Amino acid sequence: MSANFFRSVKRKIVRKVFQSDRFKRYLETSFIGQYFVRRQALKSFDLMAGFVYSQILLCCVKLDILNLLKDGPKDIDRVFNFLNLDKAKFDCLFMGASAIGLIEKDEGDLIDLTVQGHIFANDKGLLALILHHEMFYRDLMEPVSFLKEKDKETSLNRYWGYVERRGVPSDTELEQKTENAKRYSELMAISQPLVTDQIFSAYDFTKHTSVLDVGGGKASFSIRLAKLIPGIKVANLDLPEVCKEAKKNVSKADLVDAVKIIPGNFFEDEIPSGYDLVTLIRVLYDHSEENVIKLLQLIRKSLPNNGKLLIAEPMANDNLPGMSCDAYFWFYLALMGKGRPRSSRELIAILRDCGFSKARCLKTTLPIQTGIVLAEA
Ligand SMILES: C[S@@+](CC[C@H](N)C(=O)[O-])C[C@H]1O[C@@H](n2cnc3c(N)ncnc32)[C@H](O)[C@@H]1O
Repeated sequence: MSANFFRSVKRKIVRKVFQSDRFKRYLETSFIGQYFVRRQALKSFDLMAGFVYSQILLCCVKLDILNLLKDGPKDIDRVFNFLNLDKAKFDCLFMGASAIGLIEKDEGDLIDLTVQGHIFANDKGLLALILHHEMFYRDLMEPVSFLKEKDKETSLNRYWGYVERRGVPSDTELEQKTENAKRYSELMAISQPLVTDQIFSAYDFTKHTSVLDVGGGKASFSIRLAKLIPGIKVANLDLPEVCKEAKKNVSKADLVDAVKIIPGNFFEDEIPSGYDLVTLIRVLYDHSEENVIKLLQLIRKSLPNNGKLLIAEPMANDNLPGMSCDAYFWFYLALMGKGRPRSSRELIAILRDCGFSKARCLKTTLPIQTGIVLAEA
């Protein structure tokens, strides 16, 4: 009998059970039932309160509490004076941040970070992402109107200058194209180690002599690769306004001869050939199916026989539906433009359709952050 059969029987039972007051009473009073009820109640509460949790986290970052406590516990009075809030508001933030597990107070009135607090406090990329989430939260203030209205303008759509713009861009926005590119490229560069650490532990780049990073932003990945493997030929392709920043970065790293900067539009210009590995890091999920196929076909054309393509980005989960990161990326990417998270299985199927002979998934230690698919031309 198929898995589908068992799933539909299970659903039928669950439906019947939860429509029965008698069974609900039994669950609430029986030993095992109580455990289940408590777990489900907490989960229901988490779902209702998720937005509040993110706002508390945002306050902790904006008010610099995590940074204050990073190097050791501080007396509660010192934290109170540092925050300069009235007592009731201080209690509210303090109790909220303790409740969601960012800080804790010991018996001696010292406040310290928890493990979770340290994880955020010591990761510049995560902190930058949390701050930029203010836009995301703003866009989610009216989620139903976003879902129902066609082409609703959003802050995220305006922020990511390279995605198809909704509404009419103002003159100032057009003038600020370079400034805008600078802002998003900085966010990408600062959060890139979250992804590149995973890539470097999953894949051995010493097999390659030349690597082209397509949509490489400020060239952070290319610089890291050139430093790691001296002599390797590396190039970074991105939009002209982003390449200005990449050029500055490469000169700062003293790698002008090792890292080539290629300004261009990867949908309109040819992808340069002569590289035995092309990388696409956090690029495809920003784009529609149609554009993903177009880009993959262009890359396929640029690669020599046996040339490789490595795709790394947060990927949708095939096996664990219900993962919260999937919910995050579905909404984030829809608010931003026409992209969506894709599972490795979906990407592998698209790669085959685009003429790649082989494609497989590489194991990463944090698939929630980075999935990797490696394909061969
Ligand atoms: C989400 S960012 C990722 C940057 C970098 N790979 C990283 O992981 O930090 C996507 C990048 O693709 C670039 N990009 C988007 N559309 C492009 C296009 N049509 N041609 C060239 N680059 C483009 C953007 O400018 C941006 O730098």
